[in-house]
Amino acid sequence: MSEKHMIASPVKIRTMEKERGTNQTLIMEFILLGFGNDPELQPLLFFLFLVVYIVTVVGNLLFVALVVADQHLHIPMYYLLGNLSCLEICYTSTTLPRLLASLLTGDRTIPVKNCIVQVFFFGIMSNTENLLLTAMSYDRYLAICLPLHYTTLMNGRVCSQLVVGCWLTSLLFCTIVNVFLFQLTFCDSKEIDHFFCDFSPIVNLSCSDTHTLELLTFVLAVIGTFVPFLLTLASYICIITSVLKIPSSTGRKKAFSTCSSHLIVLAILYVTVLTVYVIPMAESHKVLHKIFSVFYTVLTPIINPVIYSLRNKEVNESLRKAILELAAYRSRHRM
Ligand SMILES: *[C@@H]1O[C@H](CO)[C@@H](O)[C@H](O)[C@H]1NC(C)=O
Repeated sequence: MSEKHMIASPVKIRTMEKERGTNQTLIMEFILLGFGNDPELQPLLFFLFLVVYIVTVVGNLLFVALVVADQHLHIPMYYLLGNLSCLEICYTSTTLPRLLASLLTGDRTIPVKNCIVQVFFFGIMSNTENLLLTAMSYDRYLAICLPLHYTTLMNGRVCSQLVVGCWLTSLLFCTIVNVFLFQLTFCDSKEIDHFFCDFSPIVNLSCSDTHTLELLTFVLAVIGTFVPFLLTLASYICIITSVLKIPSSTGRKKAFSTCSSHLIVLAILYVTVLTVYVIPMAESHKVLHKIFSVFYTVLTPIINPVIYSLRNKEVNESLRKAILELAAYRSRHRM
C-alpha cells in the first residue's frame, strides 16, 4: 500500500493521532499464543496434530478416489460428498500446517499480512463448507420429499452449478470483508490467544474504527451462514415428516439411511460452531473455547469420510470391492 493511500484514509489519520498521543508503535506482526509454551507439551501436540493432518488428507483423498473410480457412486449425492472431501483437505490446510510449523520451531509470530490472508482462506473454506452442506440437505430433501421429480430437479448439471455457486458466493463475501480487514491498523496488543488467525480476535485487536466492518460482517454472516442453516433445518423437518409418514418400518429405515450420515455430520459441525461463535465466553472458559475450536477446525474434516464409509452401504460395498481388486492385483503381480 502506498504512503499516499495510508495518509488519505481518515481512519488511518485518526489512528496515527491516537498513536502519537499515546506513543504507540504500529504492530507489524502478531504472536499466536496457541497452546501455551510448556516445552514438554509442544512435541506431543506436534505429533498429535501431525497424525490428525495426515489422516485427514489421506482419508479424504481415498474417499475422493473411491467416488471418482466407482461408477455406482456417480450420482449427485456422492458428487457433493466428493467435493466436500476435497474441501475438507483445503480447510485443514488453512490452519494445520502453520500450527505444525510453529509447534516444531517454537516461533509463534506471524506477520499481520499473513494473518489476514489466513482469515481470508479460512473464511472461504468454512463458508463454502456450510453452503455445500446446505446443498447436500437440498439434495436429500428432493430425493425423499419429491422422489418423482428428483431426476429432473437434480442431475449432474444442477449439481455442478450448486458447487460452483457455493465457491463463488464464499469468495465474494470473503473478498468484501477482507478489503476492509486489510485497511485496519493494529497498535494495542500483539498477542492473539488462539492457534490460528480467526476473524474476531483480530478485529478486537485493531485500533481502527471497526464499526462498519463489524456491521458488514454481521449482515454477510446472516446471509451466508444463518440463511443456509435455516434452509438445512427446513429440509430436515420436511425429510423427517415424510419419513415418519411411510407406513412400513423397513421403508422408513431405508429412506432415512441415506441421510442419517449427513445428519450426524451436520449435528457435529453446528453444535461445535455454535458453541464457539454464538455462546459468549467468559475469560475463565478460554480453554474450553480453544478445545471446541479444535473440534470444528481439525476434527470435523476427519469425521466425514469415516462416518460415510462406516455407515453407508454403497460406500462400504465400493470400498470392499476396491480392496478386493487391489489384493487381486497384488497377487497377480507377485507371480
Ligand atoms: C464435484 O462435483 C462435480 C459436479 O457435480 C462433479 O462432476 C465432480 O466429479 C465432483 N468431484 C468429486 C471429487 O467428487
